[in-house]
Amino acid sequence: MKGVILAGGLGSRLFPLTKITNKHLLPVYDKPMIYYPIQTLVNAGIRDIMIVTGGSHAGDFLTLLGNGREFGLKEINYTYQEQEGGIAEALGLAEHFAEGDRLVVMLGDNIIEKNIVSAVRNFEAQKEGGRILLKEVKNPQDYGVAVVEGERVVEVIEKPESPPSNLAVIGIYMYDARVFDFIRDINPSDRGELEITDVNNLYIKAGTMSWEILDGWWADAGASIKDYWQVGQLVYSSGANSLP
Ligand code: DAU
Repeated sequence: MKGVILAGGLGSRLFPLTKITNKHLLPVYDKPMIYYPIQTLVNAGIRDIMIVTGGSHAGDFLTLLGNGREFGLKEINYTYQEQEGGIAEALGLAEHFAEGDRLVVMLGDNIIEKNIVSAVRNFEAQKEGGRILLKEVKNPQDYGVAVVEGERVVEVIEKPESPPSNLAVIGIYMYDARVFDFIRDINPSDRGELEITDVNNLYIKAGTMSWEILDGWWADAGASIKDYWQVGQLVYSSGANSLP
């Protein structure tokens, strides 16, 4: 199992903080934001990690992280997204790194309280397909939202005006090698991006998408300045990424 962390994009919802740096390098309590997803993957036993980033501050990731020694890693792989073409486009850049292996993909602005050890184990036990993690939220309209019927997830909808459920699709996705074919099959959305939600719907259509509820709190630190501020408080008061 390999890990990919997506840390490109403009971070425009955090302007002006992101005018002079990449969003994922901003501090969240006592660490740069990117430390949290790296630690989450490392805690789940993933040692082969690629970071996809972009923009004019990409070089700062190397200065900050180097080969990942702080996380017990031998090396970190990096690649560069030349435009803000969407989450699925960013993931597509990791195809050569994946080399046909299964992937855990994490958005660089997502922070969780606990760990994904059992979710990764459940995914490993899956014959094929993908796995998404869901969390009940009060503001589902701000996220991808899942419609589930018993064991099955039947649809995911990106930021719906009238959410069909309160189950947000969090930014941790598990995929088999088919993900890269699905990325090639989708078209840019109205906002001009290749959407990860479209990729997830192709897995659902193929009947190979599983889901589970994430244990502990989850935060999207890039959703708004308020969310960014609140996640620092959450990390301060209850910790994040404790060892499994
Ligand atoms: O946080 C969970 C949500 O993340 C999901 O519920 C949504 O379904 C999913 O679309 C995504 O929504 P956001 O609007 O929060 O995505 P955002 O544009 O903030 O991008 C999330 C991360 O992906 C960001 O930290 C950097 C990376 N990214 C994004 C874009 C658009 C890239 O690496 N390249 C990109 O081109």
